[in-house]
Amino acid sequence: MRFFIKSYGCQMNSYDSQRMSDAFIAAGGEAVSKPEEADVVVLNTCSIRDKVDEKVFSDLGRLKIIKDEKSPNDFIIIVAGCMAQLRSKDILKRAPYVDAILGPQNIGQISEVATDIAKNKALDAIVSISSDAREKFLQPASASNRSVSEFLTIQEGCDNFCAYCIVPYTRGREFSRSVADIVAEAKNLVAAGAKEITLLGQNVNSYRGEGLNGGKSNLANLLYELANVAGLKRLRYLTSNPKDVNERIAEAHRDIEILAPFLHLPAQSGSDGILKKMNRKYSNSEYLEKIEMLREHRPDIAFSSDFIVGFPGETDEDFQQTLKLAEKVRYAQAYSFKYSPRPGTPAARMDDQISESVKSERLRILQDLLNNQQTEFNENFVGRSLKVLLVKSGKHKNQLTGRSEYSQAVSVCANNISIGDIAEVKITENASHSLIGVIEP
Ligand code: 5AD
Ligand code: SF4
Repeated sequence: MRFFIKSYGCQMNSYDSQRMSDAFIAAGGEAVSKPEEADVVVLNTCSIRDKVDEKVFSDLGRLKIIKDEKSPNDFIIIVAGCMAQLRSKDILKRAPYVDAILGPQNIGQISEVATDIAKNKALDAIVSISSDAREKFLQPASASNRSVSEFLTIQEGCDNFCAYCIVPYTRGREFSRSVADIVAEAKNLVAAGAKEITLLGQNVNSYRGEGLNGGKSNLANLLYELANVAGLKRLRYLTSNPKDVNERIAEAHRDIEILAPFLHLPAQSGSDGILKKMNRKYSNSEYLEKIEMLREHRPDIAFSSDFIVGFPGETDEDFQQTLKLAEKVRYAQAYSFKYSPRPGTPAARMDDQISESVKSERLRILQDLLNNQQTEFNENFVGRSLKVLLVKSGKHKNQLTGRSEYSQAVSVCANNISIGDIAEVKITENASHSLIGVIEP
């Protein structure tokens, strides 16, 4: 079967798309680069904010045209992922030509479902939207020919129920894979070409998978275990909830050489009142204490964050607290979003929703500050050296690009270095989207 997968949303969705691709290939399938060339098209959807849903419906409209041009049974359309989980009925109503709907925990069935549809022509749409992550990880991932930098899901689902967040309703309750499973997959990825692995989880710090000697493990232990995987040059993990970051993690950053000195630690807001309404379970000062503790153990550690502006009830004073927090931390990079009400979440039902114009204004101010911080952070490295993992060819001829240990994009002339190397690069320029450097003689 020729297949085409389009991924929306987060890194975990990219990982899920990779798993689906592996499953098709294991069953003799072949990846194609355009939907028109495929026998089966999968849209792996997201629900985190509002705009993506409409994009999925417009993509479905385009696929319908292809389906009508071919014989309908020779062009299978599957909607998978978080929006599929939440809006299966809507999807079938607005796009009745969709052949199957699979929630994020049901994507393990992808190849069988596609084969069933191909065989049993006039089947009703198949809908599979359970929310138990166990099923998905029953089949080991079969990695071949991977890029230098790969993702590996260690934990999935979320029990935190932040008031704005849809994820507990799409990916279900927390589930952690066993250490043995994760180490085996990491070894497979390295054998297939990976040099850097980013561990993924909605809440990686609450990782509680089965340890190698039975009992429950934790994220710090898992990191020490993965540090022993031969050939693995760099390790990262996301996303951490600040409330669960502890000293053992900080020690791992001090002790493990391949663990990048970089942490994505979403603050969301700097106002204690808003953090409480968000149900984040930490305060502004607790967040700053965690940053301090991590810097004590690993002085060069750099931070990134997510922020939401315009959460219900957010006053100018609350927003000022967010700006102050960012000024105190000095982020290497950060993402910020306007609050987007997600149906079914507690925050969507709160009274004091903020107007679009106030949200836009606050977003602009925060993004200006965060962009300046990023520029300042990068500027600091001009004239200094960075260890860059080279990931792919650059925009210009004879150029490679990669990432520094602090996750900055760096481009360098490709003399005497290859993709997959970690090179000592002397930074000569802070260009707008990446640093430029030369190899030290
Ligand atoms: N509105 C806006 N941003 C959101 N995020 C999660 N839910 C929402 C929402 N309803 C942001 C958070 C999270 C990131 C992945 O997306 O900042 O950390
Ligand atoms: Fe989108 Fe969240 Fe689902 Fe990722 S987990 S695909 S960000 S809704």
